Amino acid sequence: MKLRSIELALPGAAQAAAFLTDIWGMAPAAVEDNIHYLRGSGSFPYLVALEESADSYVRSTTFTCSAERLEQLKRSVTEAGLPATPTISKDPGGGQGIIVELAEGELLRFLVDAAEVEPIEGVDLPVKLTHVVFNSADAEATGDLVEKALGFRVSDRTKGMVFVRCNDSHHSTAFARAGFASLNHIAFEMADMDAVMRGIGRLRDQDMAPAWGPGRHGPGANVFAYFVAPFGPVIEFSTAVNKVPEDYRPGAPEDWTWPEGRIDQWGMSDKDFAGLRAAEEKFRHRRDWEAQSLGQSLDVLTEENH
Ligand SMILES: [Fe+2]
Repeated sequence: MKLRSIELALPGAAQAAAFLTDIWGMAPAAVEDNIHYLRGSGSFPYLVALEESADSYVRSTTFTCSAERLEQLKRSVTEAGLPATPTISKDPGGGQGIIVELAEGELLRFLVDAAEVEPIEGVDLPVKLTHVVFNSADAEATGDLVEKALGFRVSDRTKGMVFVRCNDSHHSTAFARAGFASLNHIAFEMADMDAVMRGIGRLRDQDMAPAWGPGRHGPGANVFAYFVAPFGPVIEFSTAVNKVPEDYRPGAPEDWTWPEGRIDQWGMSDKDFAGLRAAEEKFRHRRDWEAQSLGQSLDVLTEENH
């Protein structure tokens, strides 16, 4: 299972795409049906889709997996009683699978047979997404739900978040104890710490300072620098998240405490709590499909859609 991409809808998709390519450092992949697709240096056809819309919201967060894993998901999602539907992707890379709505509206899409592309070289292109984090009214319940319904594993719990993995990366998603449901932030994996630092420099040239960072987190130990993007959401340059073994013992909030005045391993940067919070309220989840049985054969679905 791999985290691949996030699909957003928003006003000003073209301007958002221009920011992400010209300043943040992504590469354009395609523009199709009013959707701007942006990629990194890695083998995914795109990492971020930006669809022009009157409102800002999250359409989906996409994972790719094996056919066997998809069949498991169909069973466990159905058993958990979550709204879901079979789906065929029209995004670059194609593929087919399911899209699932979690208890607080989070929309996760799981695809098989999604094509990959040749990696590309580029100065400080992000490699891929490393995590997409959501705000939750009840992060603990959502952590339990994704273990049961999706086969994900909780890696660590802190005072602020429940960190969740879907492979050996410490976390591909997390649920923040926010009291409301929304997109918390999107994190881009940079090649190394210098690429993170040069990214901070590029944004400084635009008079943009980090809302938090640079720093190094506790859980996952990844380097971070968070910014509020001009088009609304919180986005992060990150690198070097820990890999964890199958039998990793989840830490509890009391295992992840900081000395007075510190909220990361370095302690060199302030955090703009109010600015981050305001940005985290911009992108809510919006479902635009009807729930259907996942028992339907994908062959039948393919015929219906053609
Ligand atoms: Fe992050």
